[in-house]
Amino acid sequence: MSKTIIISNRLPTKVQRTATGLTFQPSEGGLATGLGSIYQAGDNVWVGWPGLSVDESAEQDQVREQLSADSMAPVFLSEAEIRDFYEGFSNSTLWPTFHYFPQYATYEQAHWDAYVAVNEKFCQAVLELAGPDDTIWVQDYQLLLLPEMLRRERPEATIGFFLHIPFPSYELLRGLPWGAELLRGMLGADLIGFHTFDYMQHFLSAVSRLLGLSNHNGQVEMPDRPVLVDAFPMGIDYQRYAEAAISKAVQHHEQAYREALGDTRVVLSIDRLDYSKGIAQRLHAFEELLLQHPEWHERVNLLMVVVPSRDRVAQYAALKEEIDELVGRINAQYRTISWNPIHYFYRSFPFDELSALYCLADVALVTPVRDGMNLVAKEFIASKANQRGVLILSERAGAAQELAEALLINPTDTNQMVESLHEALRLPAEEQQARMTAMQQLVRQYDVFAWTRLFMDRLAYSKIKQQTLATDVLDTQAQNQLRHDYAVAERRLLLFDYDGTLVRFTHNPQHARPDQELLKLLGNLAADARNQVVVISGRDRTTLERWLGHLPIDFIAEHGVWLRRAGGSWHLFQEGLRAEWKRDIRPILDQYVSRTPGSSIEEKDYSLVWHYRRADAGLGALRARDLLNHLTFMTSNTDLHVLEGKKVLEIKHAGIHKGTAAAQWLGPEPPPFVLALGDDRTDEDTFAALPPEAYTLKVGPTPRSLARYAVSNVAHVRQLLSSLLQIETIVPPAVLSA
Ligand code: UDP
Ligand code: G6P
Repeated sequence: MSKTIIISNRLPTKVQRTATGLTFQPSEGGLATGLGSIYQAGDNVWVGWPGLSVDESAEQDQVREQLSADSMAPVFLSEAEIRDFYEGFSNSTLWPTFHYFPQYATYEQAHWDAYVAVNEKFCQAVLELAGPDDTIWVQDYQLLLLPEMLRRERPEATIGFFLHIPFPSYELLRGLPWGAELLRGMLGADLIGFHTFDYMQHFLSAVSRLLGLSNHNGQVEMPDRPVLVDAFPMGIDYQRYAEAAISKAVQHHEQAYREALGDTRVVLSIDRLDYSKGIAQRLHAFEELLLQHPEWHERVNLLMVVVPSRDRVAQYAALKEEIDELVGRINAQYRTISWNPIHYFYRSFPFDELSALYCLADVALVTPVRDGMNLVAKEFIASKANQRGVLILSERAGAAQELAEALLINPTDTNQMVESLHEALRLPAEEQQARMTAMQQLVRQYDVFAWTRLFMDRLAYSKIKQQTLATDVLDTQAQNQLRHDYAVAERRLLLFDYDGTLVRFTHNPQHARPDQELLKLLGNLAADARNQVVVISGRDRTTLERWLGHLPIDFIAEHGVWLRRAGGSWHLFQEGLRAEWKRDIRPILDQYVSRTPGSSIEEKDYSLVWHYRRADAGLGALRARDLLNHLTFMTSNTDLHVLEGKKVLEIKHAGIHKGTAAAQWLGPEPPPFVLALGDDRTDEDTFAALPPEAYTLKVGPTPRSLARYAVSNVAHVRQLLSSLLQIETIVPPAVLSA
């Protein structure tokens, strides 16, 4: 039976060393609490770090055994790995960079090395557990390289990746010396998920600008497969919080807290210790509320839970001191004998007590300066059985994209926070209820189970799509068959696209002249009387003639507009073709050239081409989409057609393409052996026009095509062609036809 393997740095159970031995407690943090509810089905297993360094093998065995009973498999990290991988690269480089705190980021080669090594360690752990039909689901920023590492070992595996923190603007990623490697690591997955559409867009833009890979509707084409990128806002285990809220145990705690606090309004603040959470700014806002609105003295309390986190990282330790100092100062300033404005807890709470705090609170003050999602906001909503309570939420938390009925604030605007607090504490009950009901509906519907289902369904879909569209690679067996069929055929038609097929792309198309090796290959193939060699290209006829005209081969130029038999002269595919339309279209292309540095226009007899290979990848793709829309609109109801090629848009006559031209070479009785090679969208027309038994070969990274087979690159094409020539020398024609 197949299973799902979840992999995250932190396991949902954390092991701690106490005077009496090891203890096993639930972990904090959105990833562990969110996914903790779903992983224990079937044979599923969760691979991760148990949260402390365990060197002794007897102790490791104990941890392994105990965790395995709960479907977990530990990956142990040494003290040095915890320092360099966890506190170092993960939490001193990636975390600050991805949360827009580049000023806190450190760039240490040793930390990067440890990051690579620990990702490898996780990779080995997964490989030991993963069967061929299993689904592998990698979580979060500590393991960005893992999808690619797994893909290298298991090319066919089903691999999902989800990022639980923000994905920042491309500018932030560019600042990282290892940005491109990290992106490549993530692209090892079949499906990459983010909490919000914005993060997804930032990722796609970084992939385009740093790796030069464009996307189509969120699908990135990798050499071996497409990668889907999508947004999946994470939910919580709604029922668990909703049921807890009406349970005896929780109500009991709530009542005890209420009695201790007396008759005050409660503002709740819950986070891990983290500078991304805006805890200090929140304290300043609360202080301002007490200053500007003295009517709240002795009538409001801030309950502030800060869960210890990463406190050996310098910025976290400094934040802890700042919070201690601020709380001390505010309490000292405003407290009375019977009232202490801030109740501050620096520890984690068991589930029931946490639930009781949610139930008790009148206002939840959730004001991160950056947060991937923020599950605390959703847990507060799920805990409000009577729909009373107000959520104040930072617009910079992923959750703000969904929770529009919260009071949304900018976390750096202290005045706005003060006013929102003042408003929240006075909000009429009916309005509280209306807002809360709407948010509850959403959080209930998109709970963590729905989130998992959506992600898994999409992952399965991406795999099915890959399989149905895949073109087989031309493996040794197929190549031998091709060579055999070539050897025995008395007549052969060989149709070769030029750019990207016979020669590699160059920055400047005029530099893609044929080299000696190619001229020799084509010459030798054409010298065999049984072969008819045709170069079938989008290029203009003059260039083809200048570069290859001395060879005894045929030409199809301008995607089928111009034809020339070996040694003959050029003639048009169809008489009466018009070219006046270029006068109207050319000025539009000129505008796009001036707005897109690096792009250029190529004018052919009967077509116009806009090239953007030399433009900035992101800008080029953006302008190409614009121009395509513009031209498609302009050319509707005409006999013109806009063709998308590789980093080019071409406007030409509809109905004349490589396929219609190639058909002329097939004639009424097609030769017994037909070989067509092409790398581009325009070559698909050739493939489509040929009989099914023809050898149609797609060159290059997109293995999805009408072609029967895929070959990897120009070098492979040349090797195949020279292997055909060797047949001639090994097997003389007389033997072949015998
Ligand atoms: N949490 C906890 N114990 C506590 C306080 C908080 O388990 O004493 C949990 C809380 O219920 C929530 C998680 O920690 O599920 C925090 O997740 P969130 O997405 O808000 O922030 P993150 O820590 O992931 O940045
Ligand atoms: C966030 C991250 C998680 C991480 C958690 C707790 O939720 O997205 O990957 O596990 O914080 O942080 P910690 O460093 O204690 O694992």
